Amino acid sequence: MLKHNFDKIDHYLTATKQYWHYNAFILNDYPSFSGNNALINFLHSIDDNKLLSYQQNPASLYPLLKQFIPELLNISDSLFDIKSNLLNNHIDAPFWLKKGIKGRKWVQVDQFSNYIEGTLPILEWCAGKGHLGRLIHYKTKNEISAVEWNDELCNQGLQLAQQQSISQPFFVSNVLLGEASQLLSKKQHVVALHACGDLHVHLINGVKKALTEKVTISPCCYHLTEHDNYQAVSSYALQQSQLLSSITLSKQDLKLAVAQQSTSGERQTQLNDQEVWWRLSFDCLQKELLQTEAYLTVPSFPKTLLSNNFRDFAEWVTAYKQLDIELPTDLSVYLAQGQVRFNRLRRSELVSQFFRRPLELWLIYDRALSLQEAGYQVKISRFCDANITPRNLLIQASR
Ligand SMILES: C[S@@+](CC[C@H](N)C(=O)[O-])C[C@H]1O[C@@H](n2cnc3c(N)ncnc32)[C@H](O)[C@@H]1O
Repeated sequence: MLKHNFDKIDHYLTATKQYWHYNAFILNDYPSFSGNNALINFLHSIDDNKLLSYQQNPASLYPLLKQFIPELLNISDSLFDIKSNLLNNHIDAPFWLKKGIKGRKWVQVDQFSNYIEGTLPILEWCAGKGHLGRLIHYKTKNEISAVEWNDELCNQGLQLAQQQSISQPFFVSNVLLGEASQLLSKKQHVVALHACGDLHVHLINGVKKALTEKVTISPCCYHLTEHDNYQAVSSYALQQSQLLSSITLSKQDLKLAVAQQSTSGERQTQLNDQEVWWRLSFDCLQKELLQTEAYLTVPSFPKTLLSNNFRDFAEWVTAYKQLDIELPTDLSVYLAQGQVRFNRLRRSELVSQFFRRPLELWLIYDRALSLQEAGYQVKISRFCDANITPRNLLIQASR
């Protein structure tokens, strides 16, 4: 079943790659969508009110887009519909366990912990303050321990465990350097909630070596990896994927899989929009002043800059990148050019948003297949609703 579903998604993403495999940020115009001009004209005709309504409710856009992209599948297609397979063992946790855990995080750890059964000792991978482990301990009484590289988080986790009279050793280790590999063993259940990119790939490779009995992972941030381009995790994807033999998946592509931010509020959305607009405006400025066609990458910057004006932002970037340019007195022309690019970018995303979940699932299946190849029985499920966190997919593997 895993291979079957992987193949179907792989073929779908390969057949539609022109609609999501591009870097909209560096484009001055709409993506070419392989010459689908009717689609570009349609996107261009969308006014700001409609844009907002399609962003909030992609299902209403689907029948319209389908006219321009006949192969497009709806986000709700059964191929992408991963069910929750929650066990009937939900135990309500007491209020004192919630101490220090904010609303949505609490729901995530609570719902993730409901998937843990059996008596094996639990090792929590990249545990932060180890909230998940403590909740699992409350529900199962299993032994718990945690791996985390940030010693401040480890200390805070230890304090919480002591206050709750729970034994929860924390190992301060950098998992990317293999410092936690010796903690992995056979008689163990390793859990990882939102372990980013290489952090969960190291875990998968580690449990395969240690023959760890059970592992339950919800991966995230696939682009946080040392590799410039995607490295297949399973031999199956490496050998059989049409997608990987037709394109190189870049970090930009991988970001698409986690681009959905359903939990950000209105103020955060406004700030994100402003940041993208200013970045694009600065790019227009540097292209003209440096007489270049090349996109200039600007790293993340102190967000307080967004409360100043565009000139301050442009001065900061110029200094940071040590650009040999003098800013003109009037910058409004670049802000206007940036606005045009911003409008095209957001309209192009109306199309690419339909490919986020398929791509995320493709990545999940690749990880699941690699565990299956190592002799694990693997299940994929959804551990909470998307409004709690869009990163709600769970890989459960047992030997
Ligand atoms: C996205 S957070 C998830 C934390 C926790 N599992 C949760 O869901 O609240 C990723 C965690 O990995 C830790 N981390 C990052 N790099 C690490 C490394 N190289 N070795 C060990 N832990 C690391 C971070 O400090 C952080 O606590």
